[in-house]
Amino acid sequence: MTNQQDHFKNIISHAKEYGYIFQSSEIYDGLSAVYDYGQNGTILKNNIRDYWWKSMVQLNENIVGLDSAILMHPKIWKASGHVDAFNDPLIDNKDSKKRYRADVLVEDYVAKIESKIQKEVKKANSRYGENFNKDEFIKTNPRVKQYYERKNIILKRLNTSLENDLSDVKSLIEELEIACPESGSRNWTDVKQFNLMFGTKLGASEDTATELYLRPETAQGIFVNFLNVQKSNRMKLPFGIAQTGKAFRNEIVARQFIFRMREFEQMEMQFFVKPGEQKEWYEKWKKTRLSWHLSLGMGQDNYRFHAHEKVAHYADAATDIQFRFPFGFKELEGIHSRTNFDLSQHEEFSGKKIKYFDPEKNESFIPYVIETSIGLDRMFLAVFSWALCTEKLEDGSSRKVLKLPSVLSPIKASILPLLKKDGLPKISKEIYNDLKWDYNISYDEKDAVGRRYRRQDALGTPFCITVDHQTKEDNTVTIRDRDSMNQERILINEINGYLDKKINSKNWLQKN
Ligand code: GAP
Repeated sequence: MTNQQDHFKNIISHAKEYGYIFQSSEIYDGLSAVYDYGQNGTILKNNIRDYWWKSMVQLNENIVGLDSAILMHPKIWKASGHVDAFNDPLIDNKDSKKRYRADVLVEDYVAKIESKIQKEVKKANSRYGENFNKDEFIKTNPRVKQYYERKNIILKRLNTSLENDLSDVKSLIEELEIACPESGSRNWTDVKQFNLMFGTKLGASEDTATELYLRPETAQGIFVNFLNVQKSNRMKLPFGIAQTGKAFRNEIVARQFIFRMREFEQMEMQFFVKPGEQKEWYEKWKKTRLSWHLSLGMGQDNYRFHAHEKVAHYADAATDIQFRFPFGFKELEGIHSRTNFDLSQHEEFSGKKIKYFDPEKNESFIPYVIETSIGLDRMFLAVFSWALCTEKLEDGSSRKVLKLPSVLSPIKASILPLLKKDGLPKISKEIYNDLKWDYNISYDEKDAVGRRYRRQDALGTPFCITVDHQTKEDNTVTIRDRDSMNQERILINEINGYLDKKINSKNWLQKN
Protein backbone atom coordinates (compact mmCIF):
# COMPACT_ATOMS: atom_id res chain seq x y z
CA MET A 1 0.00 0.00 0.00
CA THR A 2 1.34 3.47 -0.87
CA ASN A 3 1.85 6.25 1.67
CA GLN A 4 -1.03 8.12 0.03
CA GLN A 5 -3.42 5.20 0.49
CA ASP A 6 -2.25 4.74 4.08
CA HIS A 7 -2.82 8.42 4.81
CA PHE A 8 -6.30 8.28 3.31
CA LYS A 9 -7.24 5.18 5.33
CA ASN A 10 -5.95 6.96 8.39
CA ILE A 11 -8.19 9.96 7.66
CA ILE A 12 -11.29 7.77 7.38
CA SER A 13 -10.59 5.89 10.60
CA HIS A 14 -9.67 9.07 12.49
CA ALA A 15 -12.91 10.71 11.35
CA LYS A 16 -14.83 7.79 12.82
CA GLU A 17 -12.83 7.42 16.03
CA TYR A 18 -13.24 11.09 16.97
CA GLY A 19 -16.94 11.45 16.11
CA TYR A 20 -16.57 13.35 12.83
CA ILE A 21 -17.98 11.01 10.17
CA PHE A 22 -19.73 7.64 10.27
CA GLN A 23 -20.81 5.38 7.42
CA SER A 24 -24.57 5.75 7.00
CA SER A 25 -26.63 2.75 8.24
CA GLU A 26 -23.43 1.09 9.44
CA ILE A 27 -25.14 -1.57 11.57
CA TYR A 28 -26.91 -2.73 8.39
CA ASP A 29 -23.55 -2.95 6.56
CA GLY A 30 -23.75 0.63 5.34
CA LEU A 31 -25.21 2.45 2.36
CA SER A 32 -22.66 3.12 -0.33
CA ALA A 33 -21.46 6.73 -0.69
CA VAL A 34 -23.82 8.03 1.99
CA TYR A 35 -22.37 9.31 5.27
CA ASP A 36 -23.53 10.68 8.62
CA TYR A 37 -21.76 13.44 10.51
CA GLY A 38 -21.08 12.74 14.18
CA GLN A 39 -21.05 15.07 17.18
CA ASN A 40 -17.86 16.88 16.12
CA GLY A 41 -18.37 16.58 12.36
CA THR A 42 -21.74 18.34 12.63
CA ILE A 43 -20.13 21.36 14.27
CA LEU A 44 -17.19 21.45 11.87
CA LYS A 45 -19.65 21.34 8.98
CA ASN A 46 -21.76 24.13 10.53
CA ASN A 47 -18.62 26.21 11.05
CA ILE A 48 -17.52 25.81 7.41
CA ARG A 49 -21.04 26.75 6.27
CA ASP A 50 -21.08 29.81 8.57
CA TYR A 51 -17.64 30.90 7.37
CA TRP A 52 -18.88 30.73 3.77
CA TRP A 53 -22.21 32.41 4.55
CA LYS A 54 -20.56 35.25 6.42
CA SER A 55 -18.16 36.01 3.59
CA MET A 56 -20.76 35.67 0.84
CA VAL A 57 -23.97 37.06 2.37
CA GLN A 58 -23.33 38.95 5.59
CA LEU A 59 -20.34 40.88 4.26
CA ASN A 60 -21.84 41.75 0.87
CA GLU A 61 -24.58 44.33 0.79
CA ASN A 62 -25.72 43.11 -2.62
CA ILE A 63 -25.95 39.38 -1.87
CA VAL A 64 -28.93 37.87 -0.06
CA GLY A 65 -29.75 34.36 1.08
CA LEU A 66 -32.43 31.85 0.12
CA ASP A 67 -33.63 28.47 1.33
CA SER A 68 -35.59 26.84 -1.47
CA ALA A 69 -37.23 23.41 -1.25
CA ILE A 70 -35.54 20.19 -2.32
CA LEU A 71 -38.68 19.08 -4.17
CA MET A 72 -39.51 21.29 -7.13
CA HIS A 73 -41.81 21.22 -10.15
CA PRO A 74 -40.54 18.50 -12.55
CA LYS A 75 -40.57 20.91 -15.52
CA ILE A 76 -37.69 22.79 -13.86
CA TRP A 77 -35.36 19.88 -14.61
CA LYS A 78 -36.55 19.70 -18.22
CA ALA A 79 -35.88 23.43 -18.61
CA SER A 80 -32.45 23.25 -16.98
CA GLY A 81 -31.37 20.41 -19.26
CA HIS A 82 -30.93 17.89 -16.44
CA VAL A 83 -33.58 15.46 -17.74
CA ASP A 84 -31.90 15.20 -21.14
CA ALA A 85 -28.26 15.86 -20.43
CA PHE A 86 -27.32 15.17 -16.79
CA ASN A 87 -25.80 11.82 -17.73
CA ASP A 88 -22.67 9.82 -17.13
CA PRO A 89 -21.47 7.15 -19.57
CA LEU A 90 -21.59 3.79 -17.81
CA ILE A 91 -20.11 0.44 -18.72
CA ASP A 92 -20.54 -2.94 -17.00
CA ASN A 93 -18.06 -5.73 -16.73
CA LYS A 94 -19.90 -8.90 -17.73
CA ASP A 95 -17.81 -11.18 -15.51
CA SER A 96 -17.55 -9.21 -12.27
CA LYS A 97 -20.97 -7.54 -12.80
CA LYS A 98 -19.32 -4.32 -11.59
CA ARG A 99 -20.42 -0.99 -13.04
CA TYR A 100 -18.00 1.79 -13.96
CA ARG A 101 -17.97 5.23 -15.50
CA ALA A 102 -16.42 4.60 -18.91
CA ASP A 103 -14.70 8.00 -18.96
CA VAL A 104 -13.21 7.39 -15.50
CA LEU A 105 -11.72 4.05 -16.61
CA VAL A 106 -9.92 5.86 -19.44
CA GLU A 107 -8.94 8.79 -17.19
CA ASP A 108 -7.46 6.37 -14.64
CA TYR A 109 -5.43 4.83 -17.46
CA VAL A 110 -4.23 8.30 -18.46
CA ALA A 111 -3.39 9.09 -14.81
CA LYS A 112 -0.93 6.17 -14.88
CA ILE A 113 0.81 7.69 -17.91
CA GLU A 114 0.83 11.05 -16.12
CA SER A 115 2.45 9.53 -13.06
CA LYS A 116 5.20 8.03 -15.29
CA ILE A 117 5.82 11.53 -16.66
CA GLN A 118 5.96 12.99 -13.16
CA LYS A 119 8.40 10.30 -12.05
CA GLU A 120 10.77 11.13 -14.92
CA VAL A 121 10.38 14.86 -14.24
CA LYS A 122 11.21 14.37 -10.57
CA LYS A 123 14.30 12.30 -11.40
CA ALA A 124 15.55 14.88 -13.90
CA ASN A 125 14.80 17.74 -11.53
CA SER A 126 16.98 16.26 -8.81
CA ARG A 127 19.72 15.57 -11.42
CA TYR A 128 19.81 19.08 -12.96
CA GLY A 129 18.77 21.16 -9.93
CA GLU A 130 18.32 24.88 -10.55
CA ASN A 131 18.96 24.63 -14.30
CA PHE A 132 16.01 22.31 -14.80
CA ASN A 133 13.27 23.47 -17.16
CA LYS A 134 10.27 21.18 -16.94
CA ASP A 135 8.55 22.21 -20.20
CA GLU A 136 11.77 21.94 -22.15
CA PHE A 137 12.47 18.52 -20.62
CA ILE A 138 9.03 17.19 -21.64
CA LYS A 139 9.55 18.49 -25.18
CA THR A 140 13.03 17.09 -25.65
CA ASN A 141 13.28 13.84 -23.72
CA PRO A 142 12.12 11.21 -26.28
CA ARG A 143 10.53 8.85 -23.77
CA VAL A 144 8.68 11.56 -21.84
CA LYS A 145 7.62 13.25 -25.07
CA GLN A 146 6.12 9.98 -26.21
CA TYR A 147 4.17 9.56 -22.95
CA TYR A 148 2.97 13.13 -23.19
CA GLU A 149 1.75 12.80 -26.77
CA ARG A 150 0.06 9.49 -26.06
CA LYS A 151 -1.76 10.99 -23.08
CA ASN A 152 -3.07 13.88 -25.19
CA ILE A 153 -4.17 11.64 -28.08
CA ILE A 154 -6.15 9.42 -25.69
CA LEU A 155 -7.83 12.37 -23.93
CA LYS A 156 -8.73 14.03 -27.23
CA ARG A 157 -10.28 10.84 -28.56
CA LEU A 158 -12.16 10.31 -25.29
CA ASN A 159 -13.68 13.80 -25.40
CA THR A 160 -14.70 13.50 -29.04
CA SER A 161 -16.23 10.07 -28.63
CA LEU A 162 -18.10 11.05 -25.42
CA GLU A 163 -19.77 13.76 -27.42
CA ASN A 164 -20.39 11.98 -30.70
CA ASP A 165 -20.11 8.24 -30.47
CA LEU A 166 -20.32 6.17 -27.29
CA SER A 167 -19.40 2.99 -29.15
CA ASP A 168 -15.98 4.52 -29.78
CA VAL A 169 -15.50 4.93 -26.00
CA LYS A 170 -15.90 1.16 -25.74
CA SER A 171 -13.45 0.65 -28.63
CA LEU A 172 -10.97 2.91 -26.84
CA ILE A 173 -11.30 0.89 -23.61
CA GLU A 174 -10.72 -2.30 -25.61
CA GLU A 175 -7.77 -0.90 -27.56
CA LEU A 176 -6.10 0.28 -24.35
CA GLU A 177 -6.75 -3.21 -22.93
CA ILE A 178 -8.29 -1.73 -19.80
CA ALA A 179 -9.32 -4.50 -17.42
CA CYS A 180 -11.95 -4.48 -14.67
CA PRO A 181 -10.06 -3.37 -11.51
CA GLU A 182 -12.06 -5.96 -9.55
CA SER A 183 -11.72 -9.10 -11.67
CA GLY A 184 -9.06 -8.34 -14.29
CA SER A 185 -11.58 -9.28 -17.00
CA ARG A 186 -11.85 -7.35 -20.29
CA ASN A 187 -15.35 -8.58 -21.07
CA TRP A 188 -17.24 -5.25 -21.34
CA THR A 189 -20.82 -4.32 -22.25
CA ASP A 190 -21.59 -1.40 -24.57
CA VAL A 191 -21.38 2.09 -23.08
CA LYS A 192 -24.76 3.61 -22.14
CA GLN A 193 -25.85 7.01 -20.86
CA PHE A 194 -27.13 6.97 -17.27
CA ASN A 195 -29.12 9.87 -15.79
CA LEU A 196 -27.85 10.85 -12.36
CA MET A 197 -31.08 12.24 -10.91
CA PHE A 198 -32.96 10.34 -8.22
CA GLY A 199 -36.66 10.05 -8.96
CA THR A 200 -39.42 10.11 -6.37
CA LYS A 201 -43.20 10.48 -6.32
CA LEU A 202 -45.61 13.05 -4.94
CA GLY A 203 -49.16 11.94 -4.20
CA ALA A 204 -51.17 9.34 -2.36
CA SER A 205 -51.84 6.71 -5.02
CA GLU A 206 -49.55 5.11 -7.61
CA ASP A 207 -51.66 6.10 -10.66
CA THR A 208 -52.23 9.76 -9.76
CA ALA A 209 -48.79 10.43 -8.30
CA THR A 210 -46.54 13.02 -9.96
CA GLU A 211 -43.01 11.97 -10.82
CA LEU A 212 -40.49 14.29 -9.16
CA TYR A 213 -36.73 14.46 -8.78
CA LEU A 214 -34.58 15.12 -5.75
CA ARG A 215 -32.67 18.24 -6.79
CA PRO A 216 -29.21 17.48 -8.21
CA GLU A 217 -28.03 21.07 -7.54
CA THR A 218 -29.34 23.94 -5.42
CA ALA A 219 -28.82 26.47 -8.23
CA GLN A 220 -32.20 25.97 -9.94
CA GLY A 221 -34.04 26.95 -6.72
CA ILE A 222 -32.27 30.32 -7.04
CA PHE A 223 -33.09 30.81 -10.73
CA VAL A 224 -36.81 30.11 -10.31
CA ASN A 225 -36.93 32.60 -7.40
CA PHE A 226 -34.95 35.29 -9.20
CA LEU A 227 -37.87 37.70 -9.62
CA ASN A 228 -39.37 36.97 -6.17
CA VAL A 229 -36.14 38.01 -4.50
CA GLN A 230 -35.35 40.88 -6.86
CA LYS A 231 -38.79 42.47 -6.48
CA SER A 232 -39.36 41.83 -2.77
CA ASN A 233 -35.95 43.29 -1.91
CA ARG A 234 -35.87 45.91 -4.71
CA MET A 235 -32.47 44.65 -5.78
CA LYS A 236 -30.49 46.38 -8.51
CA LEU A 237 -27.98 44.67 -10.79
CA PRO A 238 -25.38 43.47 -10.06
CA PHE A 239 -26.63 41.37 -7.14
CA GLY A 240 -26.36 37.81 -5.89
CA ILE A 241 -28.54 35.13 -4.30
CA ALA A 242 -26.83 32.49 -2.19
CA GLN A 243 -28.04 29.27 -0.66
CA THR A 244 -26.73 26.16 1.01
CA GLY A 245 -28.53 22.85 1.02
CA LYS A 246 -28.70 19.19 0.13
CA ALA A 247 -28.32 17.89 -3.41
CA PHE A 248 -28.64 14.32 -4.62
CA ARG A 249 -26.89 12.47 -7.45
CA ASN A 250 -26.99 8.78 -8.23
CA GLU A 251 -23.24 8.68 -8.87
CA ILE A 252 -22.04 5.55 -10.68
CA VAL A 253 -18.56 5.79 -9.29
CA ALA A 254 -19.00 6.92 -5.74
CA ARG A 255 -15.69 6.56 -3.97
CA GLN A 256 -12.97 8.42 -2.10
CA PHE A 257 -15.03 8.76 1.07
CA ILE A 258 -16.96 12.05 1.18
CA PHE A 259 -15.35 13.34 -2.03
CA ARG A 260 -18.11 11.93 -4.23
CA MET A 261 -21.35 11.21 -2.41
CA ARG A 262 -24.90 10.39 -3.44
CA GLU A 263 -26.38 12.81 -0.89
CA PHE A 264 -24.29 15.91 -0.27
CA GLU A 265 -24.54 19.59 0.49
CA GLN A 266 -23.72 22.51 -1.77
CA MET A 267 -22.98 26.17 -1.05
CA GLU A 268 -23.90 28.07 -4.19
CA MET A 269 -24.24 31.69 -5.20
CA GLN A 270 -25.66 33.05 -8.45
CA PHE A 271 -24.50 36.57 -9.23
CA PHE A 272 -26.74 38.40 -11.73
CA VAL A 273 -25.08 40.98 -13.98
CA LYS A 274 -25.84 43.07 -17.06
CA PRO A 275 -25.16 41.32 -20.38
CA GLY A 276 -21.61 42.14 -21.49
CA GLU A 277 -20.30 42.48 -17.91
CA GLN A 278 -19.99 38.75 -17.29
CA LYS A 279 -16.30 38.43 -18.14
CA GLU A 280 -15.25 41.10 -15.66
CA TRP A 281 -17.37 39.56 -12.86
CA TYR A 282 -16.19 36.06 -13.68
CA GLU A 283 -12.58 37.18 -13.12
CA LYS A 284 -13.56 39.03 -9.91
CA TRP A 285 -15.31 35.99 -8.46
CA LYS A 286 -12.39 33.71 -9.31
CA LYS A 287 -10.14 35.99 -7.29
CA THR A 288 -12.60 36.46 -4.42
CA ARG A 289 -13.23 32.77 -4.01
CA LEU A 290 -9.54 31.88 -4.06
CA SER A 291 -8.93 34.52 -1.37
CA TRP A 292 -11.61 32.91 0.78
CA HIS A 293 -9.80 29.59 0.55
CA LEU A 294 -6.41 31.14 1.24
CA SER A 295 -7.74 32.95 4.32
CA LEU A 296 -7.87 29.56 6.06
CA GLY A 297 -4.10 29.29 5.87
CA MET A 298 -3.91 25.87 4.22
CA GLY A 299 -1.12 26.94 1.87
CA GLN A 300 -1.20 28.62 -1.52
CA ASP A 301 0.58 25.64 -3.12
CA ASN A 302 -2.38 23.41 -2.33
CA TYR A 303 -4.72 25.27 -4.71
CA ARG A 304 -4.74 25.81 -8.43
CA PHE A 305 -7.18 26.97 -11.08
CA HIS A 306 -8.17 24.52 -13.76
CA ALA A 307 -9.92 26.21 -16.68
CA HIS A 308 -12.33 23.99 -18.63
CA GLU A 309 -11.29 23.64 -22.25
CA LYS A 310 -14.73 22.39 -23.16
CA VAL A 311 -17.55 24.19 -21.36
CA ALA A 312 -21.09 22.95 -20.70
CA HIS A 313 -23.84 23.98 -23.12
CA TYR A 314 -25.02 26.74 -20.76
CA ALA A 315 -21.64 28.35 -20.07
CA ASP A 316 -19.24 30.70 -21.86
CA ALA A 317 -16.39 30.12 -19.38
CA ALA A 318 -15.73 27.76 -16.47
CA THR A 319 -12.92 27.16 -14.00
CA ASP A 320 -12.44 24.82 -11.09
CA ILE A 321 -10.55 25.67 -7.96
CA GLN A 322 -8.68 22.43 -7.41
CA PHE A 323 -7.27 21.37 -4.05
CA ARG A 324 -4.45 18.96 -3.35
CA PHE A 325 -6.44 16.11 -1.77
CA PRO A 326 -4.57 13.03 -0.49
CA PHE A 327 -5.25 11.43 -3.90
CA GLY A 328 -4.01 14.42 -5.94
CA PHE A 329 -5.35 17.74 -7.23
CA LYS A 330 -9.12 17.54 -7.69
CA GLU A 331 -12.06 19.92 -8.08
CA LEU A 332 -13.15 21.61 -4.87
CA GLU A 333 -15.22 24.47 -6.26
CA GLY A 334 -16.59 25.48 -9.66
CA ILE A 335 -16.88 29.03 -10.99
CA HIS A 336 -19.05 29.23 -14.05
CA SER A 337 -20.12 32.02 -16.34
CA ARG A 338 -23.59 30.60 -17.08
CA THR A 339 -24.75 33.27 -19.59
CA ASN A 340 -28.53 33.88 -19.51
CA PHE A 341 -29.23 30.24 -20.27
CA ASP A 342 -31.08 29.21 -17.10
CA LEU A 343 -33.33 32.26 -16.79
CA SER A 344 -34.15 32.13 -20.53
CA GLN A 345 -35.03 28.45 -20.32
CA HIS A 346 -37.32 29.03 -17.32
CA GLU A 347 -38.98 31.90 -19.15
CA GLU A 348 -39.64 29.63 -22.11
CA PHE A 349 -40.79 26.56 -20.14
CA SER A 350 -42.93 28.43 -17.58
CA GLY A 351 -44.38 30.92 -20.04
CA LYS A 352 -43.76 33.69 -17.46
CA LYS A 353 -41.59 36.74 -18.12
CA ILE A 354 -38.34 36.63 -16.12
CA LYS A 355 -36.85 39.94 -17.13
CA TYR A 356 -35.06 42.62 -15.14
CA PHE A 357 -36.20 46.18 -15.71
CA ASP A 358 -33.30 48.63 -15.85
CA PRO A 359 -34.73 52.02 -14.77
CA GLU A 360 -31.65 53.92 -16.01
CA LYS A 361 -31.90 52.65 -19.57
CA ASN A 362 -35.65 52.11 -19.44
CA GLU A 363 -35.32 48.61 -20.88
CA SER A 364 -35.92 45.02 -19.83
CA PHE A 365 -33.55 42.11 -20.35
CA ILE A 366 -32.56 38.73 -18.98
CA PRO A 367 -29.44 39.10 -16.79
CA TYR A 368 -26.29 37.04 -17.21
CA VAL A 369 -25.07 34.90 -14.32
CA ILE A 370 -21.77 34.07 -12.65
CA GLU A 371 -22.06 31.06 -10.38
CA THR A 372 -19.78 30.00 -7.55
CA SER A 373 -20.50 26.46 -6.39
CA ILE A 374 -18.67 24.52 -3.70
CA GLY A 375 -19.46 21.19 -2.06
CA LEU A 376 -19.64 21.55 1.71
CA ASP A 377 -18.65 17.92 2.26
CA ARG A 378 -15.76 18.28 -0.20
CA MET A 379 -14.60 21.36 1.66
CA PHE A 380 -14.84 19.34 4.89
CA LEU A 381 -12.60 16.68 3.34
CA ALA A 382 -10.12 19.31 2.16
CA VAL A 383 -9.84 20.84 5.63
CA PHE A 384 -9.83 17.54 7.51
CA SER A 385 -7.29 15.78 5.27
CA TRP A 386 -4.98 18.80 5.26
CA ALA A 387 -5.19 19.11 9.05
CA LEU A 388 -4.46 15.53 10.07
CA CYS A 389 -0.81 14.77 10.66
CA THR A 390 1.49 12.74 12.83
CA GLU A 391 4.37 14.65 14.42
CA LYS A 392 7.59 13.31 15.86
CA LEU A 393 8.33 14.93 19.23
CA GLU A 394 11.70 15.76 20.78
CA ASP A 395 11.46 12.93 23.32
CA GLY A 396 11.16 10.39 20.48
CA SER A 397 7.42 9.85 20.91
CA SER A 398 4.87 10.98 18.34
CA ARG A 399 1.49 12.67 18.47
CA LYS A 400 -1.49 12.66 16.15
CA VAL A 401 -2.76 16.17 15.69
CA LEU A 402 -5.67 17.63 13.77
CA LYS A 403 -4.50 21.14 12.92
CA LEU A 404 -7.91 22.49 11.95
CA PRO A 405 -7.96 26.26 11.39
CA SER A 406 -9.14 27.42 14.82
CA VAL A 407 -11.99 29.46 13.30
CA LEU A 408 -13.46 26.15 12.09
CA SER A 409 -12.56 23.68 14.83
CA PRO A 410 -15.65 22.30 16.56
CA ILE A 411 -14.33 22.63 20.11
CA LYS A 412 -12.49 25.89 20.67
CA ALA A 413 -10.98 25.10 24.05
CA SER A 414 -10.96 22.37 26.66
CA ILE A 415 -10.89 23.21 30.37
CA LEU A 416 -8.68 20.80 32.30
CA PRO A 417 -8.23 20.78 36.08
CA LEU A 418 -4.69 19.54 36.73
CA LEU A 419 -5.98 17.24 39.49
CA LYS A 420 -9.43 15.99 40.45
CA LYS A 421 -9.04 17.48 43.96
CA ASP A 422 -8.00 20.56 45.96
CA GLY A 423 -10.91 22.59 44.56
CA LEU A 424 -9.44 22.62 41.02
CA PRO A 425 -12.52 21.00 39.35
CA LYS A 426 -14.76 23.65 40.96
CA ILE A 427 -12.73 26.55 39.53
CA SER A 428 -12.55 24.76 36.16
CA LYS A 429 -16.32 24.28 36.08
CA GLU A 430 -16.82 28.00 36.84
CA ILE A 431 -14.58 28.91 33.90
CA TYR A 432 -16.41 26.38 31.71
CA ASN A 433 -19.84 27.71 32.68
CA ASP A 434 -18.77 31.24 31.90
CA LEU A 435 -17.10 30.55 28.54
CA LYS A 436 -19.79 28.21 27.17
CA TRP A 437 -22.04 31.19 26.44
CA ASP A 438 -19.60 32.39 23.80
CA TYR A 439 -17.77 29.29 22.59
CA ASN A 440 -18.26 25.60 22.10
CA ILE A 441 -15.89 24.27 24.75
CA SER A 442 -15.37 21.04 26.65
CA TYR A 443 -14.44 19.99 30.17
CA ASP A 444 -12.16 17.02 30.78
CA GLU A 445 -10.83 15.73 34.10
CA LYS A 446 -10.07 12.09 33.20
CA ASP A 447 -6.47 10.74 32.98
CA ALA A 448 -3.14 12.50 33.41
CA VAL A 449 -2.98 15.96 31.87
CA GLY A 450 -0.46 14.85 29.20
CA ARG A 451 -2.92 12.24 27.90
CA ARG A 452 -5.71 14.79 27.92
CA TYR A 453 -3.54 17.12 25.80
CA ARG A 454 -3.02 14.28 23.28
CA ARG A 455 -6.76 13.57 23.15
CA GLN A 456 -7.53 17.24 22.47
CA ASP A 457 -4.74 17.40 19.83
CA ALA A 458 -6.29 14.47 17.99
CA LEU A 459 -9.73 16.07 18.26
CA GLY A 460 -8.44 19.34 16.80
CA THR A 461 -9.08 21.53 19.87
CA PRO A 462 -6.81 24.56 19.36
CA PHE A 463 -6.49 25.55 23.04
CA CYS A 464 -6.25 23.71 26.36
CA ILE A 465 -6.80 25.75 29.50
CA THR A 466 -5.33 24.15 32.60
CA VAL A 467 -6.30 25.07 36.14
CA ASP A 468 -3.56 24.28 38.67
CA HIS A 469 -2.59 25.20 42.23
CA GLN A 470 -1.21 28.57 41.15
CA THR A 471 -4.70 29.44 39.86
CA LYS A 472 -5.87 29.48 43.49
CA GLU A 473 -3.19 31.98 44.39
CA ASP A 474 -3.24 34.45 41.51
CA ASN A 475 -6.29 33.68 39.33
CA THR A 476 -4.15 32.66 36.38
CA VAL A 477 -4.39 29.56 34.17
CA THR A 478 -2.06 28.09 31.54
CA ILE A 479 -3.28 28.24 27.98
CA ARG A 480 -1.64 25.73 25.62
CA ASP A 481 -1.53 26.20 21.88
CA ARG A 482 -2.27 22.93 20.00
CA ASP A 483 0.13 23.54 17.11
CA SER A 484 3.19 24.98 18.85
CA MET A 485 2.46 23.24 22.18
CA ASN A 486 3.67 26.47 23.84
CA GLN A 487 2.01 27.44 27.09
CA GLU A 488 1.50 30.85 28.59
CA ARG A 489 -0.08 32.04 31.81
CA ILE A 490 -2.95 34.45 31.60
CA LEU A 491 -5.56 35.78 34.01
CA ILE A 492 -8.92 34.01 34.06
CA ASN A 493 -10.65 37.21 33.08
CA GLU A 494 -8.40 37.49 30.00
CA ILE A 495 -9.38 34.07 28.55
CA ASN A 496 -12.43 35.32 26.66
CA GLY A 497 -10.50 38.12 24.94
CA TYR A 498 -7.60 35.77 24.17
CA LEU A 499 -9.90 33.24 22.47
CA ASP A 500 -11.81 35.93 20.62
CA LYS A 501 -8.61 37.31 19.09
CA LYS A 502 -7.56 33.86 17.87
CA ILE A 503 -10.93 32.59 16.69
CA ASN A 504 -12.94 35.56 15.52
CA SER A 505 -13.86 35.08 11.86
CA LYS A 506 -13.22 38.78 11.21
CA ASN A 507 -9.51 38.26 11.82
CA TRP A 508 -9.44 35.15 9.62
CA LEU A 509 -11.46 36.55 6.73
CA GLN A 510 -9.36 39.71 6.62
CA LYS A 511 -6.15 37.72 6.19
CA ASN A 512 -6.42 37.77 2.41
N1 GAP B 1 -24.63 24.27 -9.89
C1 GAP B 1 -23.41 23.86 -10.44
C2 GAP B 1 -22.99 22.54 -10.02
O1 GAP B 1 -23.71 21.81 -9.35
P1 GAP B 1 -20.98 20.87 -10.11
O2 GAP B 1 -19.58 21.09 -10.62
O3 GAP B 1 -21.73 19.70 -10.62
O4 GAP B 1 -21.74 22.23 -10.44
C3 GAP B 1 -20.45 21.90 -7.78
O5 GAP B 1 -20.95 20.83 -8.53
C4 GAP B 1 -19.65 21.41 -6.59
O6 GAP B 1 -20.44 20.48 -5.83
C5 GAP B 1 -18.39 20.65 -6.95
O7 GAP B 1 -17.30 21.52 -7.17
C6 GAP B 1 -18.18 19.77 -5.73
O8 GAP B 1 -17.50 20.49 -4.71
C7 GAP B 1 -19.59 19.49 -5.26
N2 GAP B 1 -20.05 18.15 -5.71
C8 GAP B 1 -20.54 17.81 -6.91
N3 GAP B 1 -20.88 16.53 -6.94
C9 GAP B 1 -20.60 16.03 -5.71
C10 GAP B 1 -20.74 14.74 -5.10
N4 GAP B 1 -21.26 13.71 -5.76
N5 GAP B 1 -20.34 14.59 -3.82
C11 GAP B 1 -19.82 15.64 -3.13
N6 GAP B 1 -19.68 16.87 -3.65
C12 GAP B 1 -20.07 17.07 -4.92
